[in-house]
Amino acid sequence: MKSNFSMVPYMMKRNPRLALSTARNFWTMYRAYGLSGDFPRRLLKRLSLLYLNLTPLCNLRCLMCGQRGIKGTLSGSAEQEAAKSVLPLSVYEKLIREVQKYHPMLYLWGGEPFLYPHLMELGRMIISSGLNLSINTNGTFLEEYAEQVVRDKWSAIFVSVDGFEQINDEIRGKNSYARAMAGIAAINREKKKRGVPLPNLGIVSVVNRINYRYMGDLVKAGQNYDLSWHIINLGTYTCDKVVEENKRFYRENFGVEACHLEAYNTGFNEGIDGEEFYRILTDIHALGSKYPIITVPAIRPKLIQDYYGFPGKALLGRCPVPWSQANINYNGDVHFCADYPDYILGNIQNEDFWTIYNNSRAQAFREKLKNSPRGIFPGCLRCYQNMLFGRRVRA
Ligand SMILES: C[S@@+](CC[C@H](N)C(=O)[O-])C[C@H]1O[C@@H](n2cnc3c(N)ncnc32)[C@H](O)[C@@H]1O
Ligand code: SF4
Repeated sequence: MKSNFSMVPYMMKRNPRLALSTARNFWTMYRAYGLSGDFPRRLLKRLSLLYLNLTPLCNLRCLMCGQRGIKGTLSGSAEQEAAKSVLPLSVYEKLIREVQKYHPMLYLWGGEPFLYPHLMELGRMIISSGLNLSINTNGTFLEEYAEQVVRDKWSAIFVSVDGFEQINDEIRGKNSYARAMAGIAAINREKKKRGVPLPNLGIVSVVNRINYRYMGDLVKAGQNYDLSWHIINLGTYTCDKVVEENKRFYRENFGVEACHLEAYNTGFNEGIDGEEFYRILTDIHALGSKYPIITVPAIRPKLIQDYYGFPGKALLGRCPVPWSQANINYNGDVHFCADYPDYILGNIQNEDFWTIYNNSRAQAFREKLKNSPRGIFPGCLRCYQNMLFGRRVRA
């Protein structure tokens, strides 16, 4: 199984500057693995990846989504209520000035980031600051914005598609496949028209019991589009026991009610036959795809059965995230774990980013993580962010 890093040589042919900058961000993350036991004497100013969750709003309701899925924390009126607190552009402008010198990759997501009202202005601001802009989108607005996105030289677009046609639409809603693929085609047309290599485009798919048997159909369909990668994310899942353990841990150690993990306790991984899925992945890798097919996390094949069969079993190494990554929530809250805004470090509307990244709450989190068994907390067992670097996990 290929790891995330396999994107870099592929991108090198298309856009050496972006490939080198991505490699540098991977290196920063890799160093964070080595350094995550240490604390800097001076202010920690290492940052490989800065997530900006721009909006809680979304036009889809994907079944397994921790925000708007069947157990999503932003279901019903919570979404509209939360949307009242999205940040004005001026707050992002200040943030970009603060972090610019350290060259993090900016990763825009949400909700659906195209529903943030100032997305195009923010995109131009990021690119003109010299930073790379990558975005994770459901792709349904790409066709409409293709011209601006290509003109403004966005770096990378991760389009979420979870299966070929009906399978995708069963998970992500009617017509979502057609709209996402039309969006990818529109970006490709625009790139061709202008003769430019950016943005790099790729698909990201989350595995669940509805789609795992049919993932090969999507990989084959993707070959007709000019993609740079297809990431197959084994998925963020949990179970009752882990949720309870995690809640107790956060309550006792941080005095916080950790309520976000429960949103991933959906049962959508139940019934996945790990051995069968391993064979499916082997067939997918044997297809000879034009671009890298990446499995995140890049675990040894033997472990796939355990990944789905035993959600309480640790398969990942210690977490480097708080030493090189951070997430800014749509309301300005800063937290390390992008999917779980439970432990808030501060808010960028009140303080500057580096002060928050180094404050006593941030240090207490790092200290506790460093001293935890296996260097992770009870709820981190299937965390996407910790898997992101794609370091191969040994059986
Ligand atoms: C929450 S979405 C936000 C961005 C955008 N709306 C989209 O769908 O791409 C971010 C990513 O998380 C993925 N995702 C949703 N539920 C997930 C789960 N249970 N496990 C892992 N990833 C998940 C989505 O497929 C998407 O790629
Ligand atoms: S499109 Fe993204 S944010 Fe919206 S429901 Fe689907 S996964 Fe969640």
